[in-house]
Amino acid sequence: MARVVLKNLWKSYPGAKNVAPAVQDFQLDIADREFVALIGPSGCGKSTTLRMIAGLESATQGEIYIDDQLVNDLSPKKRNISMVFQNYALYPSLSNFENIAFALRVGRAQKYIIEESVKRTARKLEIDHLLDRYPREVSGGQRQRVALGRAIVRDPRVFLMDEPLSNLDAKMRVQMRLEIIKLHRSLHATTIYVTHDQIEAMTMADRIVIMNKGVIQQVGTPEEIYNYPANTFVGGFIGNPPMNFINGTIEHGRVFSNKTMGLQIPRETGERLQEQNVHSVIGGIRPEQLYIEMGSSPVSDHTFVGTVDVTELIGADRHVHVDLGKTGTVVVRTGAETRFREGDTVTVKANMDKFLFFDPNTGCRIH
Ligand SMILES: Nc1ncnc2c1ncn2[C@@H]1O[C@H](COP(=O)(O)OP(=O)(O)OP(=O)(O)O)[C@@H](O)[C@H]1O
Ligand SMILES: [Mg+2]
Repeated sequence: MARVVLKNLWKSYPGAKNVAPAVQDFQLDIADREFVALIGPSGCGKSTTLRMIAGLESATQGEIYIDDQLVNDLSPKKRNISMVFQNYALYPSLSNFENIAFALRVGRAQKYIIEESVKRTARKLEIDHLLDRYPREVSGGQRQRVALGRAIVRDPRVFLMDEPLSNLDAKMRVQMRLEIIKLHRSLHATTIYVTHDQIEAMTMADRIVIMNKGVIQQVGTPEEIYNYPANTFVGGFIGNPPMNFINGTIEHGRVFSNKTMGLQIPRETGERLQEQNVHSVIGGIRPEQLYIEMGSSPVSDHTFVGTVDVTELIGADRHVHVDLGKTGTVVVRTGAETRFREGDTVTVKANMDKFLFFDPNTGCRIH
């Protein structure tokens, strides 16, 4: 299969004057067989990046290599890439069989090879009983599998997928997610997968690339991205509910302090922050690293007190929003069985080993 290297890729759309380039200085080295997810808010440049790799958009600047071959000037066909889109893009007047066979027919493969390849692919996707039907005669999930079949039948070097599951209902999406993971395991094709959905990115990808406004914010494994977000954007984008951010100052390299709290920080962290002469910071803590109890215990070096604002029951979890007055609000993730109500005074305890600190000017993580 293939290694894909993207070097300093830029894209400015012609006519889009006085706007920042859609993609800015995109750098990524994707290993052979790797599954990479591109994620970020709407308009951040995910599809543009994918389309440049496919050859459907030209790069304004930068280089695209597939297996050490510079492909900038190769037509999409010659890049040996398959792309799956959100809206299937199947031919309605062709049967599912013919839809899957399409690329092979265009490539003038022999008839028995086409027959063989289409059937093998369809079996893999469990749609072999649907080959005689037309796309309109099967369900959305099955249609998406036909589209996947059309992409994999050619044995491409690279798969590009642009939100392939976003048209499916929640249940079908989960099922197809597992199928794509399995498919990736059996085909070992280098895959670049664009999604809005952080669960898809976290569960499917070897590495995640988070973009915002055309710029890569962080590249890392799902664990790295979740536990060590590079900046407040990533911490706020990944995780549901997102990371809590609290403004404060570091006092004597020992205490994270503001009007509501004075939390003792681990010694090593404190030493690092002091070395860097850090004073004002944004503290970041995930909702599951906070614990609450009813009532206001005496203030300690790892607790603070607030008032319950809203609680949301989400299946097995309850998200409790705690109002800290001038300090803002934090969200605490608790079990569904907890019985906190609006107006309750509560004590929140923080797991200080998991507290992260960000630079308030740049948003970048300091520790
Ligand atoms: N053909 C085009 N001409 C001009 N501007 C474009 C064109 N296509 C996209 N853009 C702009 O480029 C930026 C990136 O768009 P892109 O489609 O890559 O975003 P995206 O991350 O895929 O978003 P979404 O999640 O909504 O699909 C956006 O600001 C968009 O308006
Ligand atoms: Mg898009």
